[in-house]
Amino acid sequence: MKAVIPAAGLGTRFLPYTRSQPKEMLPVVDKPAIQYVVEEAVESGIEEILIVTARGKRAIEDHFDRNLELEQSHPGSVPGAQEFNELLERARIFYVRQTEHRGLGHAVLITEKFVGKEPFSVLLGDDLTFSRIPCQQGLLRIHAKKGVSVLAVQHVGLEAIGRYGMVVGKEAGEEGVFLVEDIVEKPTPRQASSDLATLGRYVFTPQIFSDLRKTRPGVKGEVQLTDAIATLLKKEDVYACVFNGTRYDIGDKLGWLRANFELALDRPDLTKGMRQILGDQTAEPRH
Ligand code: UTP
Repeated sequence: MKAVIPAAGLGTRFLPYTRSQPKEMLPVVDKPAIQYVVEEAVESGIEEILIVTARGKRAIEDHFDRNLELEQSHPGSVPGAQEFNELLERARIFYVRQTEHRGLGHAVLITEKFVGKEPFSVLLGDDLTFSRIPCQQGLLRIHAKKGVSVLAVQHVGLEAIGRYGMVVGKEAGEEGVFLVEDIVEKPTPRQASSDLATLGRYVFTPQIFSDLRKTRPGVKGEVQLTDAIATLLKKEDVYACVFNGTRYDIGDKLGWLRANFELALDRPDLTKGMRQILGDQTAEPRH
């Protein structure tokens, strides 16, 4: 199966950093965020990945390239080089540019030629997920059983409802799996009749492309993927699968800070130092 990683957003929530830098290249401990997303796709068995980029995002292409100069000047001692080169061997990465900022739905639509007539995965470049079984692999398992589109969702609090596509579904005979009945992009808490939020991981049948073509700009004047899913589920079953791991929205400043903090605390080479910093801060706050 092929995967698409939309990474062409403007990143206005992360200004001023995103004036000239892609938010997908924000470091999360010591890797850019998008590398975690590519790793998740590869660990889920995906071998061909198309990243949707835009003006000002060239650093993404440079990152997923061999750095022979570095490897030759430090033979055998570049941190993470072996793991990185294995990643590049396991997945072929392609790029397409979204030349106008017309929304996530439009970013997915321009990948149609690459995808062809097969089901495909979509992983958003600014959502990181961590769990024993990769989030995307869980969706692919449901897709293999049911042969339809599948969305990852998480239960969220009332305060978060206006930030996500919210899904209404009915239980589908397996714990954490729902048949989607409705989906609405960024509803007000009064409009929302569920606490199930989409989290940037999807498997779609190719039917989504014809629904995207018919989708008019919605919230924020952008072509919303959520609106096309709402059309899709009138024709085909669409399932939602609850993700029980940890998710970070690194396009949000607090989400990014939390990702760095929690992942660094978990890293064997950094845990001790992190604990010292936290201990020092508690003992002697700096002003
Ligand atoms: P967001 O809703 O996070 O929008 O996009 P954004 O522009 O990236 O960031 P903010 O909200 O202004 O801070 C969700 C996903 O859709 C992609 C983004 O890269 C992100 O992965 N996207 C969004 C595109 O690829 N193209 C677009 O035109 C819009």
